[in-house]
Amino acid sequence: MEREKIGIKGMDLMIQGGFPRGSIIGLPGPPGVGKSIFALHFLLEGARKGQKCVYINLEEPERNIDNMVKQFDFSEEFFRLVKAGKIVLRCYTYPEYEKIYTELFQKIREDKEVKRLVIDSFNCFFSAVSHPEALTIPTEVNIRRMINQSFSMLRKKDLTTILILEMQHDLRSSFYYNIPYLVDGIINLDFLELGAIERRVFIPKMRWTKQYKESKSFDIGKKGIVMKKEE
Ligand SMILES: Nc1ncnc2c1ncn2[C@@H]1O[C@H](COP(=O)(O)OP(=O)(O)O)[C@@H](O)[C@H]1O
Ligand SMILES: [Mg+2]
Repeated sequence: MEREKIGIKGMDLMIQGGFPRGSIIGLPGPPGVGKSIFALHFLLEGARKGQKCVYINLEEPERNIDNMVKQFDFSEEFFRLVKAGKIVLRCYTYPEYEKIYTELFQKIREDKEVKRLVIDSFNCFFSAVSHPEALTIPTEVNIRRMINQSFSMLRKKDLTTILILEMQHDLRSSFYYNIPYLVDGIINLDFLELGAIERRVFIPKMRWTKQYKESKSFDIGKKGIVMKKEE
């Protein structure tokens, strides 16, 4: 099994060295836990190896992405790889994205150089579609069809995809539909509140992999996500 490293030391070890190449991974977690930063590591790791890596953001303008990257020690290298075309950043609003996503996925599918893709966030797209003010008919059937269609377009031997899943604790299942069943793996980032807040990573699902059975704690700092030493 060929692997695509996440690029976060200690986390790759939890999944035998990385994601199975060609897999689609769900990355759920509450706001602020570190999902987008996790994505930066994944993009950076691929681009360092010369892979073309595409990041699609549906929530923030590009300026916000720049500001996020700037906080980290790897920012210079990151922006150099953006300039070199190895990391491609694309920001869309929901209506734009809804209109072009099939075209966009088709392009990504056809571009043989693209090896890594991140969609930040995937479920927000569907929840926006199901919003009462959205113009499309917000039937669950429609949403499931869009999800299935996205998956079949993203399934490609050499393309490894992360779908970020924004989640509030009280909204757990509703915006997920069948996503947890369709993905090949799930990396769960969460907060543990024990007086001080701690961030933890847990891997409930990873096909073709002997996965680590316990959760591990991590910190976010100048180096991005860093696993904490076990006591
Ligand atoms: N330089 C930094 N040092 C420490 N923590 C940071 C730093 N930069 C960002 N963070 C933490 O990362 C969080 C944002 O992470 P992000 O990946 O954007 O979250 P998510 O995408 O899951 O909503 C912030 O709330 C902050 O706690
Ligand atoms: Mg985010």
